[in-house]
Amino acid sequence: MTDTQDISTISSALATIEAGAAKRLEGAVDLVTFREARNDVLGKRSELARLHNRLGALRPEQRKEAGNLINAARARLEDQAGALGQVLEERDRRARLEAERLDLTEVVAGPPAAPLDQIGRGIGHINLVTQTRDELEDTFVAMGFTVAEGPEAETDWYNFEALNMPPAHPARGMWDTLYLRLGEPETVLLRTHTSPVQIRLMESHRLPIYAVMPGRCYRRDTPDARHLPVFHQIEGLVVDEGITFGDMAGVIEAFTNAFFGPGIHSRLRPSYFPFTEPSAEFEVTCPICGGDGCRTCSGSGWIELGGCGMVDPNVFAAVGIDSEIYSGFAFGFGIDRLAQVRTQLSDMRVLLDNDVRFLTQF
Ligand code: FA5
Repeated sequence: MTDTQDISTISSALATIEAGAAKRLEGAVDLVTFREARNDVLGKRSELARLHNRLGALRPEQRKEAGNLINAARARLEDQAGALGQVLEERDRRARLEAERLDLTEVVAGPPAAPLDQIGRGIGHINLVTQTRDELEDTFVAMGFTVAEGPEAETDWYNFEALNMPPAHPARGMWDTLYLRLGEPETVLLRTHTSPVQIRLMESHRLPIYAVMPGRCYRRDTPDARHLPVFHQIEGLVVDEGITFGDMAGVIEAFTNAFFGPGIHSRLRPSYFPFTEPSAEFEVTCPICGGDGCRTCSGSGWIELGGCGMVDPNVFAAVGIDSEIYSGFAFGFGIDRLAQVRTQLSDMRVLLDNDVRFLTQF
């Protein structure tokens, strides 16, 4: 056999092997059949490997040429196998994810109040406090605010210091703080209010800011009709040029009307918070008596919802905002307290009891 014949024999054998190998790879339908096919056409015992072993019988210069032909064919098959492998791996990953999916956040909307005889068999629904939080978010979003969140375990800096309450400041006593055993003593705590999210937002966002920040808070408060140790607040923060106390009063009144409906108004009473100056308590017409005075509002016709005020320049300084250019206001109020007032619950503790007879009413 001449060298030319040897080369042509090898190259025609190679063409047949390559065509068969490509077909074999194409036939793979999943990762198992693909791996088998890949091994069959590119592995040590493949026809391609056997053909390569025959090169030893050729003269050196012919061997090189035939070797190049075989290597080029191998490279093409490897490319084909690589691309196919990727497609099948992705398909397999999707199938596994779909099969293993466990959606713990899915909420199945059910009838708001299942009849008592169906309790235990019916589907659940969102808790009253979460419903209230969702409604609050919707109301503020409709007014042009964005929604932000922050961590429940906070550092002393965010919960107190950046809010104009340095260590040992007497105002810290306004909140009965639960500290965590982490790091230096009294440096990490369960946040006592949502105000630390103001700081986080001002640190990380470009101005202006128009945002609300709902979330869970913790205080060493003994549970009673109007207090829970774990409760929820929603914080509001506006920072822009030329913001005034009048803007704040207007936003609070617009929110009160939108949330409670016509006939319910807001008023501000002077107060003190270390992080706002001036500060106020904001109150709304008692929705129970419509302002006439009842037991719930202690005869005043007004119910206190939370605190508010103009952002103190020291707070702006802590986050590097120039208070000569920017001004702003903040407010914060209790979501559980709001749910209590709106649904006329005499005792807030029912929100924690998980008594299905209560839960199914809302
Ligand atoms: C604050 O927490 C301030 N951070 C509010 C604020 C924000 C002022 C921004 C100025 C600017 P205060 O401690 O008053 O303030 O709590 C606000 C509201 O949270 C209360 O009016 C009440 O509605 C609710 N709240 C407070 N403690 C509890 C509790 N233990 N259980 C249920 N609700 C509570």
